Amino acid sequence: MIVLGVESSCDETGLALYDTERGLLSHALHSQVAMHEEYGGVVPELASRDHVRRAIPLLEQVLADSGIDIASIDAVAYTQGPGLAGALLVGASVANGLALALEKPVLGVHHLEGHLLSPLLSSRSPVFPFIALLVSGGHTQLMRVDGVGAYTLLGETLDDAAGEAFDKSAKLLGLGYPGGPAISRLAEVGDPGVYQLPRPMLHSKNLDFSFSGLKTAVLTLVKNHQTNLCEQDKAHIARAFVDAIVEVLVAKCLAALKQTRMTRLVIAGGVGANTQLRAALNDAAKNKGFEVFYPELALCTDNGAMIAFAGAMRLQRDPSAARYDYGFNVRPRWPLDELLPVE
Ligand code: KG4
Ligand code: ZN
Repeated sequence: MIVLGVESSCDETGLALYDTERGLLSHALHSQVAMHEEYGGVVPELASRDHVRRAIPLLEQVLADSGIDIASIDAVAYTQGPGLAGALLVGASVANGLALALEKPVLGVHHLEGHLLSPLLSSRSPVFPFIALLVSGGHTQLMRVDGVGAYTLLGETLDDAAGEAFDKSAKLLGLGYPGGPAISRLAEVGDPGVYQLPRPMLHSKNLDFSFSGLKTAVLTLVKNHQTNLCEQDKAHIARAFVDAIVEVLVAKCLAALKQTRMTRLVIAGGVGANTQLRAALNDAAKNKGFEVFYPELALCTDNGAMIAFAGAMRLQRDPSAARYDYGFNVRPRWPLDELLPVE
């Protein structure tokens, strides 16, 4: 079965073809980062209009790259939520229009399920059950994953998401949008311990997170310097920020593994691309004797491949998930634990 995946929940248009026999055939992505950069964040209306422009050329690209004919597509999966309503509607319209024209079924996929299952696309992939740390621009959650659709929320952020903390702190340091990769690069040339930042909820005895205080602490450091914040100071602050957030994320993952007595950990979402987080988790895995799995770097941030894959997993296990009525809705807010398990 060949599934076309369409992702348009935020500022990336992603299309991909996944074959349940042969694996990922092709995927193509257009990032709107350059367009939103001058506004310091995503402008929803501009995002929607750009998805409209990009979707069909990206479809042509994935068909050309895979060498398959459009008529060979067996089903179309699209991100139904959560995300920006207008942006989601573009992907949903494209997916339903294509499926109608091809007389093939269509299926709405949960964006976070896409992220959660994305490490299964790697050559070294985990088996169920596992603990997943979902760290993206909008979410920070620890989940227990027992199978496709069988997700139990163990803990989540009470305020900002980890990616949001990266982006906001980077903005305070004048690093532009999105700030995650930039602050991470700058941290590499900063020294540890020059500045101390809090480790929010490190000892909270539960699996919840809170990152807004960390961003405020960065703001205080920046303000204390007033105008004379030199590049080296910025690097030291970046280092203090990365060290703090990584320490909290790793400690909570360890606590989740201990609490559930599991030995497999999966990292998903944009922040999962972070090199310092990966290094610290790899060290912890070696020392504590658990396994850690990541998506391919290119599949950490939003992409169509994870949507095609999640759609294929659901359709394989539950053919009744296939829809032929093409009357769609999107779900900008959609809790992951509302999904039902499929066998
Ligand atoms: O999963 P994603 O592409 O989109 C959402 O669903 O939110 O995640 C985007 C987030 C942004 O906040 C971005 O700054 C962060 O992931 N990010 C990173 C890195 N690459 C992306 N954060 C830290 N280090 C990175 N290398
Ligand atoms: Zn995402």
